[in-house]
Amino acid sequence: MRNLAILAMAVVCLVDLSSCGTTSFAPPPVTPELAQTGKGQHGDIAMLREGRALFVHRCIECHTLPAVSSHSAQQWPRLIDEMAGRASLKPAERKAVLAYILAARTQ
Ligand code: HEC
Repeated sequence: MRNLAILAMAVVCLVDLSSCGTTSFAPPPVTPELAQTGKGQHGDIAMLREGRALFVHRCIECHTLPAVSSHSAQQWPRLIDEMAGRASLKPAERKAVLAYILAARTQ
């Protein structure tokens, strides 16, 4: 049974390399549950979806996508302020990316 599970995992990894933790970090998808975390303080679901899309597309232009857990909720706002300039994010986009990261961190 255990071997079967390992085999299944291997197949999944071959099919979808991004699901293997060692190759890259997969930011969690935006679900209604995610939008609920933090009781809406991080923004609504549409904003979180936009934030995630911007994060995965714009934040890997210069380096690999940082894990949302790589920095604390206190550190992220300053980091996003710095990186927003580099990624040419508009103020609303910067807000959306930060909202997504903070919501995803609570997962
Ligand atoms: C134009 C290039 C560029 C883009 C686009 C960019 N970054 Fe960076 N990022 C850098 C560079 C260069 C560093 C190296 C550290 C430094 O110089 O601050 C860095 C470092 C980082 C770090 C590590 C900082 C630390 O102190 O450990 C994080 C986290 C980060 N970026 C997040 C992001 C996020 C989130 C985005 C998208 C909003 C983004 N970056 C977009 C260039 C970029």
